[in-house]
Amino acid sequence: PIEQRVNDLMSKMTLQEKIGQLNQFTSDRTSTGPISANSNKLKDIEAGKVGSMLNVRGSKDTRMVQEAAMRSRLKIPLLFGLDVIHGYRVTFPIPLAEAASWDLDAIEFASRVAGREAAAAGIHWTFAPMVDISRDARWGRVMEGAGEDTYLGSMIAKARVRGFQGKGLGELDAVMACVKHFAAYGAAVAGRDYNTVDMSERHLWEVYLPPFKAALDAGAATFMNSFNDLNGIPATANTYLQRDILKGKWGFKGFVVSDWGSVREMVPHGFAKDNEEAAKYAIKGGSDMDMESYAYVNFLEKLVKNKEVSEDLINDAVRRILTKKFEMGLFDDPYRFSDEKREKKELNSAANKKVALEVAQKSIVLLKNQNQVLPLSKDVKSIALVGPLAKSAEDMKGFWSVVWDNDHLVSLHEGLETKQGKKTQINYAKGCNINDDDKSGFADAVEVARKSDVVVVAVGEAFDMSGEAKSRANIHLPGVQEELIKELKKSGKPVVVLIMAGRPLIFNWTADNADAIMYTWWLGSEAGHAMANVLFGDYNPSGKLPMTFPRSEGQLPIYYNYNNTGRPVINENNIHYRSAYIDSPNSPKYAFGYGLSYTNFAYSNLTLSSKSLNQDGSITVKFTLKNDGKYAGEEVVQLYLRDKVASLVRPVKELKDFTKILLKPGESKEVTFVINKEKLSFYNKNLDWVAEPGDFDLMIGTSSDNIKLKDTFQLLD
Ligand code: IFM
Repeated sequence: PIEQRVNDLMSKMTLQEKIGQLNQFTSDRTSTGPISANSNKLKDIEAGKVGSMLNVRGSKDTRMVQEAAMRSRLKIPLLFGLDVIHGYRVTFPIPLAEAASWDLDAIEFASRVAGREAAAAGIHWTFAPMVDISRDARWGRVMEGAGEDTYLGSMIAKARVRGFQGKGLGELDAVMACVKHFAAYGAAVAGRDYNTVDMSERHLWEVYLPPFKAALDAGAATFMNSFNDLNGIPATANTYLQRDILKGKWGFKGFVVSDWGSVREMVPHGFAKDNEEAAKYAIKGGSDMDMESYAYVNFLEKLVKNKEVSEDLINDAVRRILTKKFEMGLFDDPYRFSDEKREKKELNSAANKKVALEVAQKSIVLLKNQNQVLPLSKDVKSIALVGPLAKSAEDMKGFWSVVWDNDHLVSLHEGLETKQGKKTQINYAKGCNINDDDKSGFADAVEVARKSDVVVVAVGEAFDMSGEAKSRANIHLPGVQEELIKELKKSGKPVVVLIMAGRPLIFNWTADNADAIMYTWWLGSEAGHAMANVLFGDYNPSGKLPMTFPRSEGQLPIYYNYNNTGRPVINENNIHYRSAYIDSPNSPKYAFGYGLSYTNFAYSNLTLSSKSLNQDGSITVKFTLKNDGKYAGEEVVQLYLRDKVASLVRPVKELKDFTKILLKPGESKEVTFVINKEKLSFYNKNLDWVAEPGDFDLMIGTSSDNIKLKDTFQLLD
């Protein structure tokens, strides 16, 4: 048994070797190999001072570095970790885009493929999924998560863990998942990365923690903590988060890695006076592995010898890490993931690209389609293809692509050419850059618009405008891109706008005046093909927004599941002494859950098996969904609930279930949801998870602001 093997090994380890297991270094990634000749890292590995490396990748390099570990006294294999956030070589849509698919199977499968590719390239461990809830699009890292909603985020967290870990640790095609960033990182004040978080415990439990718990329930092997302080205590030293909740109440048996340098960052936080004190607080706080702070490796031995840190804490952390190494089968064969033949076969395979194409199509959200401009006819003679992102393949990869391959990124231009060949003349003009004020290209753009049948405009953010440390105070469509769209509109031709970005942007004029808008995010390797398929109707768009799109930055943070005030706005035309802005509506530009299709879905015949339920009972909700349009298509039906009166103010609605249904034209299906106590529960003021008797509103909709069917029911004592 693994426990016995871990104990046997630990009985042979010196304190220094144990501390080595808690230390993680990064690869230097020089042109000559994974570790530069003038660094001591290889020597440290041979001396047993390193337990894991990040950023070493590829079978050859991982094998070479693992060989150094095999020269150490106890031959303890290294763990190789990497940020496989949305694909390894084949790049998938950014996670926020995938979340817009609301397609849990597709999301799981994308992570499966990413995990398989990474595992074939010597990687044991991905630093994903990122499950931070965020309600503020200024924060650049919204691109990495599943958006604003706790329920959707929890379902996606599970899907991603299942995808990465496949049939389980030890399988040759599975990598360990790392759920991050524990916790509340997405609530950084003012959307500024790494910023402080001040939050009630109840709110933490209700909104921010559930996706972590869901990921843990799905078997996540490891956790990463976060850069922020939570109510004054840095997450890295946060005993309440890491010891009381994660390893205590939740019984987590895996290990926690710090974020990059987050141990030593407790010094500038003003929480530790130096790196030695930071090491002490971090290990006491439950951080098992130190990523790149050099604090554990430099100070833990002294701290133990001085009796400031108990050796039991070190032993517990070592035991957790070694257990994972055994579970991964690394003690049986430390090179089992470093297999060049498998790597060659797996990476960039046609099958993997097909998966990327499918999920990319599903991630696109159709925001507007006036007069059914879309889908474009395949007989269209000419398209004016305009915009700084029309020919860009590189930006399609999105932020946090680590091992992408430029030769395998498909631009919109390429996608359209591949689809239409000589049938359609593509008249291209760049028009402007992404983010400056140069309008010299406008004239050419207008010229191509005039001579074409339809204008397709590709605008948005460059791949490095959303992501870590990419917070923006201004989230309008950057530069003069919206002005370009205004000029193009004057041509009188239908204007179809594709917005490629890593976050919700603000583009009010375009929203009101373009003929059609597709929000395509950054779709990864197959972006161009996916967009072309949707533009021409070979795939009917089915994505729904996983985040609310504001009208202005002044509305941030903004989210659909807000609490009512005592003075809610009932009529936007009468906001006198109401909870409102005098210069903007409260409502967003696009609501959570919103997204159109080329077809139309009709909702009817809502029935409830009963109008009340007991605490241990349930109500079965049924209704009919009919595709009464002309195209086959998928609809994401969303179930929202509201607890009308409770001991604490409850949100005006909360997503509690959803399903994605494919219907042919004219086809109907009966949809069933089950409501039980779990769906009605919340954390009360004592932090007990309770469902309080009383009345509930039931709402079934096509988005959070377009409810199609309603009823009420009662929870009995
Ligand atoms: O995994 C990441 C984390 O999300 C942010 N800081 C660096 C880590 C390792 O690259």
